[in-house]
Amino acid sequence: MQLRRTGALIGIAAMLGLSVQVAAETLAEDAKKYRVSIMTTLKGHIGAASMTVRGLVDDNGQLAGHAAGLVSGTAELNNIFQEGSAVDDSEALPSIWEQPEKFAAAMKQAQEATVAFQEAVAGGDSEAIGAAFRSMGKSCGGCHDDFREEHDH
Ligand code: HEC
Repeated sequence: MQLRRTGALIGIAAMLGLSVQVAAETLAEDAKKYRVSIMTTLKGHIGAASMTVRGLVDDNGQLAGHAAGLVSGTAELNNIFQEGSAVDDSEALPSIWEQPEKFAAAMKQAQEATVAFQEAVAGGDSEAIGAAFRSMGKSCGGCHDDFREEHDH
């Protein structure tokens, strides 16, 4: 996984006489920012889904929407961990790029867990929904344990 368009931008930067490092750094910052946006989206959907699953709020049909958001957010995991994008107080650990197979397995686990949650929601059985929700939560935490720096938020 490389930062896309880096080659083209380096070419443009060279033509304009700009420092190559500046162009590459800007891209890395955007990649990091986008990654955090996706993660924040996942957090919003899982938080709202959790309240619905626990019965703290009524399900007016929104649970299926949160499940869909979790499926599409985790599908994007494959595109948001460009090597060199751990910049700007990123909590992404070097292990992401040092252990690509283990990291790919963590992404796949989350993708499968969110699809299973979406299917459980469609099925409508509250016990199955609760079990699928817990597995999904573990898939987030499992990746964070190995690939995200300790954090205080
Ligand atoms: C395959 C690994 C992986 C999976 C799966 C994963 N995350 Fe993350 N997550 C990360 C990494 C790495 C970071 C740190 C990103 C950074 O700072 O550059 C992160 C950061 C975050 C953040 C902090 C964003 C911020 O404000 O800095 C939240 C919130 C988050 N993840 C929520 C979730 C939720 C919810 C799920 C499950 C639905 C999930 N993540 C699944 C790897 C993962």
